[in-house]
Amino acid sequence: METPQRKSPGAIGAGLDALQVLDALPDAVMVIDLDFTVRYVNAAYTVLSGVPRSQAVGSRCHDVFPGDRCRTPGCPMNRIARGLEQLRYEGDKHCACGRSAPGIVTTRAYRTADGDLAGIIEIVSDMTPLYESRERFRKAMGGVIQAMSLTIEKRYPYTAGHQRRVTKLCRAIAEELGFSWERTQGLRMAAAIHDLGKILVPAAILNRAGELSEPEMAIIRAHPQTAYDILKDIDFPWPLAQTIYQHHERLDGSGYPQGLTGDAILLEARILAVADVVDAITCFRSYRPAVGLEAALAEIQAQRGKQFDPQVVDACVAVLTQGRVVLQPRDGIPMARALPAQAEEES
Ligand SMILES: [Fe+2]
Repeated sequence: METPQRKSPGAIGAGLDALQVLDALPDAVMVIDLDFTVRYVNAAYTVLSGVPRSQAVGSRCHDVFPGDRCRTPGCPMNRIARGLEQLRYEGDKHCACGRSAPGIVTTRAYRTADGDLAGIIEIVSDMTPLYESRERFRKAMGGVIQAMSLTIEKRYPYTAGHQRRVTKLCRAIAEELGFSWERTQGLRMAAAIHDLGKILVPAAILNRAGELSEPEMAIIRAHPQTAYDILKDIDFPWPLAQTIYQHHERLDGSGYPQGLTGDAILLEARILAVADVVDAITCFRSYRPAVGLEAALAEIQAQRGKQFDPQVVDACVAVLTQGRVVLQPRDGIPMARALPAQAEEES
């Protein structure tokens, strides 16, 4: 077979030039040398960054494309220069015009034929369309959860706002415990519909202003199982069905429906259990007047390390006594509005 004649150092055969091929790629490509001088950016990189090729090439990458981790040991370029072969991460690429685009960034070593490190290549895939559709999906999912939450509250007026207050308290506890934003969202979703299973409890029992018989209590106590049966086949990105299933479990095994103990109960469910009890004690119910916050806190502290996770109890007491969350009878947060962005929505 005939070897294609090389026309230039950049030729890759059949009339193709490597640099023109790189310019045709939809992904942004930058090549720097080991002193962080930009040697090449393709057309997509100039569009993504808003920096013309003439300005980028020959400049130090941290001068023309400044980022949060530039000049730190955490800088991906720095880590490759110090021996790492490849890094892949999600991050925003900042444009000179002020726009930032969510991207998947791959930073990898460029080696000579002898294996010597000669430079660093950065490839950025602009994920803006995918992220926008993900945000739309999040918003729609939040709307569905909110609709489910309101449906339950319409049937059970005495606890109107209960799920929203519990959601608010769960979020504050999760943040106190250092949950990531993503994990906190999952807990908030679970909290917003944690009484979903009560949809199958007759309204006459739910709204009864008086003590319930044992068979009636058994019907109410089936609500975690009912919710689990409804949710278990939905592929949420969080353990929503299990969190709700376990929210009446207690650390010492005295809960229901499975009688789980200790770490067998999800941390999300242990948080939901505490928040649920605090709000239930604090607020008015059909069968008794509202009891104060002090009584609710005394109850969870009395059960600290017995029924309730000690860390969760401590976090709950901290956020309530320090006023970081205030439970008000009618407060709440529409999930659809709160979920798309990480914006604060304290009421
Ligand atoms: Fe419940």
